[in-house]
Amino acid sequence: MGKTLLLAFESSCDETAAAVVDGEGRLHSDVVASQIDFHARFGGVVPEIASRKHIEAICGVAQEGLDAAAASLGIERLRFRDLDAIAATYAPGLVGALVVGVAFAKGAAWGADVPFIGVNHLEGHLYANKIATPDIEPPMVVSLVSGGHTMLVHVRDWGDYETLGSTIDDAVGEAFDKVAKALGLGYPGGPIISKLAAQGNPKAVRFPRAMMHSGDLRFSLSGLKTAVITYIQKERAAGNELNMADIAASFQQAVVDVQVAKARTALRDTGAREFCLGGGVAANPALRGAYQDMCRQEGVRLTMPPLSSCTDNAGMISLVALDRYRSGKFFGLDADVQAHAPLDDAY
Ligand code: KG4
Ligand code: ZN
Repeated sequence: MGKTLLLAFESSCDETAAAVVDGEGRLHSDVVASQIDFHARFGGVVPEIASRKHIEAICGVAQEGLDAAAASLGIERLRFRDLDAIAATYAPGLVGALVVGVAFAKGAAWGADVPFIGVNHLEGHLYANKIATPDIEPPMVVSLVSGGHTMLVHVRDWGDYETLGSTIDDAVGEAFDKVAKALGLGYPGGPIISKLAAQGNPKAVRFPRAMMHSGDLRFSLSGLKTAVITYIQKERAAGNELNMADIAASFQQAVVDVQVAKARTALRDTGAREFCLGGGVAANPALRGAYQDMCRQEGVRLTMPPLSSCTDNAGMISLVALDRYRSGKFFGLDADVQAHAPLDDAY
């Protein structure tokens, strides 16, 4: 086959995903099997269940990724041996979940005699911006906000990152999930809270803006979560009826205010003229709207991934893998997964 084609897997948390990208960065498939329904009843991701569900899903997801790519390419079949490299997220994430994608990708790469490429999941969330905006170019600042991470990163170049600040306790997505749980609203909390918040008054309750004036780019979310839970308990004890929409909107506004203020500081500190977002929380409409206003005021170009590419997917992993393929940076078949891996060491 003349065209360069890479297959990538994502299995770091609760989505099993596969995507095929060509040498020009065009996605020919991007399939995701979500396990959310299996975790929802526990109010969060159960690592052991995640590993087992990845094992059940990965063969089918791989086949679907290849079949959808074959259809997009107008060919009858796409096999592992037709590919030029096979990639998988190797870090950071749940070890037992990562290992399924990595073991499958390594096995397929070995069988097809093509290189294996390991991808840092956070770098994937950054590259998700390329899906709709291929001409996005560093230097820029990216805000990575997911269920596991909350950080501002200076992207000096592709593969050259400096973490400017991150959360000292909970991640933003985790705060949405925990507040939703406290309100008895289900899992994952982000989409539920943001829908509810759209009907509420963001000024109804004044929740704390933690570390707003800390003079650095670190975040803290656990105090806000506790403040919301304490407020709910007090209101209930006083016999007051809870206005769920107002609580959701006020909580969300407290998150958004701090995120936007710190992002503005990061842009001013670095002098970057491009700002982008990554991670599941980047799908939040209030956050997206607030960033639009801030970037307009600062005269900075804003790029946001399409909504479906904010949460975990393999398309974003395949785009990182393509850059790695172009520069010949491969992993050995003895490479292992890692629960933690700083983005600053991505290359
Ligand atoms: O990136 P992701 O799929 O997985 C991780 O790498 O963590 O992010 C999942 C997180 C969850 O905490 C979920 O509640 C949050 O993203 N999320 C949202 C929204 N959609 C998903 N948070 C706020 N608003 C949303 N609309
Ligand atoms: Zn993620």
